[in-house]
Amino acid sequence: MTVTTLPIDQPPSARDCVIKNLEVKNPRIACARFENFEAHTPAQQAALEVAQQYAEEAREWNHGGDWLYLAGFAGTGKTHLAVAATIAIGYWGTEFVTASELIDEIKKSFTRRYTDEPTTEDIKRKYLDARLLVIDDLGAGQRGTEFESALLSDLLCERYRGTWATIITTNLGGSQMTDFLGQRVVDRIEEVARKVEFTWDSYRRGSRRRRGQP
Ligand SMILES: Nc1ncnc2c1ncn2[C@@H]1O[C@H](COP(=O)(O)OP(=O)(O)OP(=O)(O)O)[C@@H](O)[C@H]1O
Ligand SMILES: [Mg+2]
Repeated sequence: MTVTTLPIDQPPSARDCVIKNLEVKNPRIACARFENFEAHTPAQQAALEVAQQYAEEAREWNHGGDWLYLAGFAGTGKTHLAVAATIAIGYWGTEFVTASELIDEIKKSFTRRYTDEPTTEDIKRKYLDARLLVIDDLGAGQRGTEFESALLSDLLCERYRGTWATIITTNLGGSQMTDFLGQRVVDRIEEVARKVEFTWDSYRRGSRRRRGQP
């Protein structure tokens, strides 16, 4: 009797799962990697190096870690480098979410109708306990209501307390962030985050030209 052994698929790695989740949620940016980030100026080169260094060190962290804070103009590659770092780190337990999505998810849980839907506490726990939490576009599209500010401030203070690795991207300047989150949170970010300012022109504006379109 001959026995045919079927090839057993390799189980997906944590990095494969991080990529898959990003492809589902953010298909436009899921192909972002350090290798395809064009660094034409010293400032862009420095931004790339900070993100690469962060990712390299994060791979060695068993518990918790520093924060990475990418702030500046629209279209300058903040989300690109956040995605590239998230993939390079490749942790199980990565949550990549825009601040608006996070707030909407919490708000939706207030009108939870079925017992199999997550409770507000479940959703908060997911983001509090993530081994790596990426909050993209902090301050964009949020009206800065007391509810939004309190929710995000509490989450960030808890992440700080637990020393959990966190990446933030934002268009807000320093004083706008202080208005939005309050001095207590900004002070904590100053302590634990490696900060990069993205002050060059938007890459989006040149993208049609690069593709040879008018
Ligand atoms: N230096 C770069 N090299 C290659 N692609 C880039 C670079 N900068 C930006 N891009 C690409 O341009 C697009 C916009 O970049 P990205 O979304 O990272 O900008 P952003 O700074 O997050 O903007 P916003 O503040 O509007 O969220 C993406 O497709 C990204 O991959
Ligand atoms: Mg962005």
